[in-house]
Amino acid sequence: MADVSGALGTLTQQALRELADAQDVGALEEWRTAVLGRNGSLAGHMRAIGQLPPDQRPGAGQAANAAKRALETAYDERESQLRSVALDSQIEADRIDLTLPARRLHTGALHPTTQTLRRITSIFRDLGFRVTEGPEVELDWYNFEALNIPEEHPARDMWDTFYVNPPSVVMRTHTSPVQIRTMEHSQPPVRVICPGRCYRYEAQDASHEWMFYQVEGLAVDQGLTMADLKGVLVAFAQRMFWPDIQCRFRCDYFPFVEPGMEMSVQCPVCRGSGCRVCKASGWLELLGAGMVHPEVLRKVGYDPDAVNGFAFGMGPESIAMVTHAIDDIRLFYGNDLRFLQQFA
Ligand code: DAH
Repeated sequence: MADVSGALGTLTQQALRELADAQDVGALEEWRTAVLGRNGSLAGHMRAIGQLPPDQRPGAGQAANAAKRALETAYDERESQLRSVALDSQIEADRIDLTLPARRLHTGALHPTTQTLRRITSIFRDLGFRVTEGPEVELDWYNFEALNIPEEHPARDMWDTFYVNPPSVVMRTHTSPVQIRTMEHSQPPVRVICPGRCYRYEAQDASHEWMFYQVEGLAVDQGLTMADLKGVLVAFAQRMFWPDIQCRFRCDYFPFVEPGMEMSVQCPVCRGSGCRVCKASGWLELLGAGMVHPEVLRKVGYDPDAVNGFAFGMGPESIAMVTHAIDDIRLFYGNDLRFLQQFA
C-alpha cells in the first residue's frame, strides 16, 4: 500500500510539474494524452491497483480517483490560462491605433464643362425650355442643308468639318441640327435647349479645340419677336452672371437666322473695366442668335407665315473660361488632374 500511494504521489507531482511547463495548446494536449489518456500514466496506475490484495484495493482506488480529479482540475485551469494568454496576444497583434491619421478618401468631382452645362440647362429649364439631345455623327442634311447652308455655298467655310462618310455623313460641327430634328417631330409651341459635343477639323490652339460642347436653344410659336429673344437671353445672362449685367446685341450673320446677331456681356472677370481676358474692351462675346430663317421653317414643314421662332447657340467652355479666368481651352480635355481638381 505504502508503495502504491508513494508511486501515485510521485506520478501526481511529476505530472503537475510537466503541466506547469506546458506553454501552448499543443503541449497541453500531449500532456493530457500522456497523463489522463487511455494509455496514460494514470490509467497504468489504475490497472496496477487490480493486482493489489483485495483489502487494499478500495483505499488505493479512492486515492487514484482523487488524484485523477485533482489532475483534471489542474488541467482545466492550465488550459484556460493558456487560452487567455493566446487571446491576449491575438488582441495585441490585432490592435488598431486609433490615433493614426485616417487615409484620405478620393472623391471625384464634376468636370468644369459639366458643371457649366448643368447651370445653363437649369436656368433655361426655369425659363420653360425642355432639354433634348441629338446624335454626334450627323447627316449633312441636318448639319448643313436643312439649316439653309447648301452644298457649294461659301457659308460652309464657317465650319471646318470632319467627314465620316463623305459627302453625306459628318461629325456635327454644331448643335444646331438638333433644332431641325426637334421641329421635324413636334408641333409649335416648341421650346428646347440642346447640349452636346461638337467636332471641328481645326488646328488646336489656346482658343480652338477639335472637340467642344455647345448648347443650342430654339423657340417656335406664333408671333415671336426679337424682343422675346433678347428678353430670354438677358434673363439668362442675369442668372448666369449677376442681376444687373449689361448685355450688348450686334448684327452678325448665320445662314439659319434672319436677322442674325451676337450677344456680348460685360466681361465677368473685370466687370467691364477692361482686363486681359476681354482684351481691355470690357465686353465678351457670349453667343450667336437670331430669328429662325423662313427657309429653315419651310424645310421642316412649318408655315413661316403662321409661326416663327428664335434660336441661339453658345459654348459652355467659353463661358467657363470667362467665369474662371481660364486662358487655354486645351486645358479642358487635357486630362491634367491638377487642372480638374481645382473645380472639385
Ligand atoms: N451654330 C452656331 C455656331 O456653331 C451658333 C449659333 C449661332 C446657333 C446663331 C444659333 C444661332 O442657333 O441662331 O457657330
